[in-house]
Amino acid sequence: MKIELSEKLKLFKPFLFEELYRKERSERAKGRDIISLAVGDPDIPTARGIVDCAVNEVRKGLNHRYPNTKGNENLRREISAWHKRRHGLEFHFNDEVSILIGSKEGIAHLPFVVMNQGDCCLIPDPTYPTYRTGVLLSGGRIHDVPLEEKNAFLPDLGKIPRKVLARTKLFFLNYPNNPTGAGATLYFYKDLVKWARKNGIIIAQDAAYCDIYFGKPAPSILEVPGARDLAVEFYSASKTYCMAGWRIGWVVGNSKLVCALNQLKENIDSGPFNAVQNAVAFALKHHETIVPPIREIFKKRSDAFCGALEASGWKFPRPGGSCFIWARPPVKCGSLDAVLFMLEKAAVLTAPGSGFGKFGEGYIRFSLTEPEAKLKEALRRITALDWSGLK
Ligand SMILES: Cc1ncc(COP(=O)(O)O)c(C=O)c1O
Repeated sequence: MKIELSEKLKLFKPFLFEELYRKERSERAKGRDIISLAVGDPDIPTARGIVDCAVNEVRKGLNHRYPNTKGNENLRREISAWHKRRHGLEFHFNDEVSILIGSKEGIAHLPFVVMNQGDCCLIPDPTYPTYRTGVLLSGGRIHDVPLEEKNAFLPDLGKIPRKVLARTKLFFLNYPNNPTGAGATLYFYKDLVKWARKNGIIIAQDAAYCDIYFGKPAPSILEVPGARDLAVEFYSASKTYCMAGWRIGWVVGNSKLVCALNQLKENIDSGPFNAVQNAVAFALKHHETIVPPIREIFKKRSDAFCGALEASGWKFPRPGGSCFIWARPPVKCGSLDAVLFMLEKAAVLTAPGSGFGKFGEGYIRFSLTEPEAKLKEALRRITALDWSGLK
């Protein structure tokens, strides 16, 4: 039988990072010693205390039953307590917090609860690709909002056409930013919330890298008075606690949006394994001892990597956070050409900026989620390259 796949599926190219994983595997299969700095997948093992807690929780029979879609109360309470300590914000664990099977899952589902056919969603360019998923599936339209180096990779709200604003329902943002490493201040969020209220736009701020900052702690958009009327914020255990494989994230903020997302999810999934939820609750409870050493590792890696790249002619503003460096090679060239050049001549795989959007063209994203020895070797290989060899 000839299987006919859906029209909707045709809207999707293979996910950028899956393509990069495939490239890495195929190069390794040829026997090449590839160092991949393409994907942001933390190499640092999850803290011992979290793992021990999970092992203990796995043994409890009660945890073997179905979890609750919005997450167990232990974790939701721990999340509320953490936001109080970290941002001075009180979220009611019942209707302002919901657990996700990784923040990617919630990000992909959110547009379904707010967008109707033809509604517009603003998406940064360059962007984390998942912001597009739910918009495309819900029949919405995408308007790309440039993040340019001359604006410190913040959106220029005044440049979004009025007629686009008139049909815009949702705006996805992400600070500390993937892929650019830029941060956002509370002043920026204040202006953004004012602008969003005036234009009737819901804000979904993705704070996956909120605890990998190199200067002042990254603020939450929800610290802006009144932001809760129109915003939700996504969080992730993946980078903060190096728990990417455990698949836990959460959403906090506007209760109507949080509850609507949960209502949709009740019809799709049954929540993450309770043993894992309880391990993340442990991580949150011990955040202040677990996270600073992780942040320090990323900062040291970033400083060393930036210094060496700068010395060999790469151009870029240093990141304010995240585990990425977003930089332009020593010669003017296309992102993909530069990636293929580094792969062929230095056996280092990186992510092409153009894969994150039109405004990423000319940039390369380095991910610092490999051990120091590998990063050092990758730098040795990259900084030895003669870029005049790039045709
Ligand atoms: C900006 C951003 N948001 C969300 C995610 C997804 O994180 P999670 O592992 O919680 O699904 C990532 C993962 O790389 C990311 O870079």
